[in-house]
Amino acid sequence: MSINNKKKQIIASCISIDSITNDDISDLLISPPSQDLGDFALPCFRFAKILKKSPLAIAEDLAQSISEANKNKFASIIAVNGYLNFKFNPLESAKQILAEILEKKSGFGSSTIGAGKTICIDYSSINIAKPLHIGHLSSTIIGSALYKVYKKLGYNAVGINHLGDWGTQFGKLIVAFDLWGNMAALKKEQIPYLSKIYVKFHEEAQNQPELNDQARAAFKKLEDGDLHAIELYSVFKKITLQDVAKIYKILHVHFDSLNGEAFFNDKMTPVIDELNNLKLTEISDDALVVRLSDYDMPPCILIRSDGATLYATRDLAAAYYRKEKYDFHKCLYVVAYQQNLHFKQIFKVLELAGKKWAKDMVHVPFGMVSLEDGAMSTRKGNVILLKDVIDKSIEKSLVILKSKSPKLKNKRSLATKIGVGAVVFFALSNNRIKDIIFSYDKILSFDGETAPYVQYTNVRALSVLKNMNVDLNKYFTNHLTDDELKGLDNKESALLVSLFEKFPDILSDVLDKYEPSILTRYIIDVAKAFNKFYLENRILNAPDEFKRSRAALTYATHIIICEGLKLLGIDTPEEM
Ligand code: ARG
Repeated sequence: MSINNKKKQIIASCISIDSITNDDISDLLISPPSQDLGDFALPCFRFAKILKKSPLAIAEDLAQSISEANKNKFASIIAVNGYLNFKFNPLESAKQILAEILEKKSGFGSSTIGAGKTICIDYSSINIAKPLHIGHLSSTIIGSALYKVYKKLGYNAVGINHLGDWGTQFGKLIVAFDLWGNMAALKKEQIPYLSKIYVKFHEEAQNQPELNDQARAAFKKLEDGDLHAIELYSVFKKITLQDVAKIYKILHVHFDSLNGEAFFNDKMTPVIDELNNLKLTEISDDALVVRLSDYDMPPCILIRSDGATLYATRDLAAAYYRKEKYDFHKCLYVVAYQQNLHFKQIFKVLELAGKKWAKDMVHVPFGMVSLEDGAMSTRKGNVILLKDVIDKSIEKSLVILKSKSPKLKNKRSLATKIGVGAVVFFALSNNRIKDIIFSYDKILSFDGETAPYVQYTNVRALSVLKNMNVDLNKYFTNHLTDDELKGLDNKESALLVSLFEKFPDILSDVLDKYEPSILTRYIIDVAKAFNKFYLENRILNAPDEFKRSRAALTYATHIIICEGLKLLGIDTPEEM
């Protein structure tokens, strides 16, 4: 039961009205117009008939009828204009929420609200034979965080890496490889080798335009199932996937499907036929298009004048397929804002085709990523490889660790958790639509709003718990007593408790807005609140009767930080 429901039940158990059940009372409770009045308000208008009294009188009489023992659970109970307002005693709130977190541990905040609903999430969606550059970071980690939060709330999330594995560029690669390629070198150098021969192809084609014809012919062969073409293509694909798997692993990113553009190559005809039959298409400059001028958009091109299908055609086929296969409740596309128009066109075509589910398709756009020195990912060469950014962040973390904590063992493994976490946390810190600029100093700062700051806070909490020298599972078996809870009678504790109570709502908010930064901000708030608590209140040296409640608050902080970071794909080092 969620903490709010539990609190409603507590209120209900304090009220007794003939023929009204606790559940009725609990269902009636609403939020008062202002927090000053209380946490919950019971409108008494419904009871006027049964009790044959005015709501005003009922509210006042009910307030009187509550027993002294029950009254202690509340800071105030006030009757105003026919409403009975309840404000929980902060220590009662602490008792409830700590019991729940310590019992559920990493399961705290989980729910079944999404049961029976499937959410398709298209993220990362990399292009075969091309390296992952910094621009792929956002799609990959925003999508992955949403995927994890959906699962936590009981949805059936389907992670889809819609691979860019089809198109004329594969004709170019095949020609380039046949002319200059070497299999041993390819297997050794992997994706960079493919980039190299691809660039060479473009250079050479400037003087030998016939190469372009050869590339078209090679792609045609691939489409027609030529064995040699398929063999090379498969090697390119396999090598790319092996290479990126290392990055996905380090980022804790998982996919349920790798069906990309090639997969939809033979699934476009029925879609095009359907659009033709619905009279949505027309021929324009020898191309087959869906005109969208009524909606202020350029036409959606389905078949080019040379007979080739396009990215958009495959996306339409993919949408049909996903609906058919997964019967999704929603289908998200975590793709840069540069593709806003593309998705608006796709969704409009689906709507025109009478697909009611077109309204369930959501483009989740995000801004550009660049480095502080002005470097940016561009179409021509000069790309910042994601791997390089991650490696550099790890190296810098290692340098920091060596100077801050020279005695630590396993420095490299710790630096990996810190360095990778720093990159991911920073990229998820701002509203996703904002462009972001990376600065290693900023993302690795131990006292900024960064992963290292949060990770360090967790290490601090862990070290307190370790120094308690108790078996945590047994230590908290018995509920905290009222005397013990008095250890939390301070404003730092109250702030932490109110943050803990918000965790489930934060997760729903992340999904409502498709915005992992809500969780990032929240984790920062928890870390800051804990550090304040830690500074102002003794824990290990606290008076004996306060130790357990303060340790419980510390343990709950650790649980929430770890779970929050895990949902973002970030590790929590045990030492720093
Ligand atoms: N591969 C594409 C790109 O790098 C992104 C694909 C996004 N997903 C989709 N279904 N269109 O631009």
